[in-house]
Amino acid sequence: MKTWRDERILSLFGIDLPIIQAPMAGVGNAQLAIAVARAGGLGSLPCALLSVDKAREAVTLIRTQTAAPLNLNFFCHAPSPRDEQRLAAWSEIIRPHAVSAGLPLEPTLPAHPGIDTFNESWCAFLENVAPEVVSFHFGLPDAALVARVRAAGAKIVSSATTVAEARWLAANGCDAIIAMGTEAGGHRGTFLPGELDTQAGTLALVPQIVDAVDTPVIAAGGIADGRGLAAALMLGASAVQIGTAYLLADEIALPPIYRHALEQAGDQSTVLTNIFTGRPARAIVNRAVRELGPLSAHAPQFPFAGLALASLRAHAEAAGSDDFTPLWSGQSVSLARALPAAEITRRIAGQALDVLRQQ
Ligand SMILES: Cc1cc2nc3c(=O)[nH]c(=O)nc-3n(C[C@H](O)[C@H](O)[C@H](O)COP(=O)(O)O)c2cc1C
Repeated sequence: MKTWRDERILSLFGIDLPIIQAPMAGVGNAQLAIAVARAGGLGSLPCALLSVDKAREAVTLIRTQTAAPLNLNFFCHAPSPRDEQRLAAWSEIIRPHAVSAGLPLEPTLPAHPGIDTFNESWCAFLENVAPEVVSFHFGLPDAALVARVRAAGAKIVSSATTVAEARWLAANGCDAIIAMGTEAGGHRGTFLPGELDTQAGTLALVPQIVDAVDTPVIAAGGIADGRGLAAALMLGASAVQIGTAYLLADEIALPPIYRHALEQAGDQSTVLTNIFTGRPARAIVNRAVRELGPLSAHAPQFPFAGLALASLRAHAEAAGSDDFTPLWSGQSVSLARALPAAEITRRIAGQALDVLRQQ
């Protein structure tokens, strides 16, 4: 039975529903991917904060639970050198805020920010586990690595935050392009130079990218229910990628302070901030964002900005405070429901079909 008018993404990935569960580093896990895959969407495993061993463990678990296609997701930023002077200056900017919060700021910064970029070892891992889809954030890795990912049998996807980025991704061999509007939670996928302020929201970005490239487009940002999915399809997207609407899913064990912040959040709760990692990302406004950002010219380069905040964050969290925690979230946070992920997926698809049948 033909249900969805545009089946390009369904046949490209081998899925039943035009819903991709967004990879969400630090939040998404094997259980979430399994639940969405079983419901007919594309399950994704974010690998940016995992070791290769942890990722292998998660993929093994997913493969034993479902034969459905799987998306593995990676950051692919060009690593920037650690700038000790800039880190020290950033620590000095943070210090008075630590003092006024009554929290200690450790003088020694952690050695490694713990965010990995796609490299030779990850590529070898992919060749071994052969995921059906690989999605990248912050552009694409070197052409030689992309060629190896393709040779391993994966469809290749990446995010565009502008029409120029979409054209670049299409020209560099992406099989599908995520059009990421400014409503989206987490890091902007931006990889070409440009102004953050002039980036478009999903409603404006999707049709302009659809018109600019022949590659199928996946809409992302602010889509959290069937109305959003139907609207994205009407704009010419072939599927949607949904993150924030899964944040309260039963399969995710969110720290209670993060969960509480999401439950309290409304339409004006989030902002784009670079203070937690050095790259702009959408998060719920908290003390750190208010006092240090939202956008600071002093934040060290990605991903080092978070190092200076790490001890402060740990002390605050131990005291039950979210003052210095990155509370990643998109603008549709109040539409998120605390339900099993399969039910979230089926509800969004069912509501969208109802809306579309009324056309
Ligand atoms: C908590 C969180 C973490 C995210 N981490 C990643 C990630 O690791 N890789 C990635 O490609 N996108 C990441 N994103 C962006 C999502 O893939 C997706 O584009 C976005 O969530 C869509 O917008 P929405 O949140 O309004 O649904 C993240 C988003 C959130 C909310």
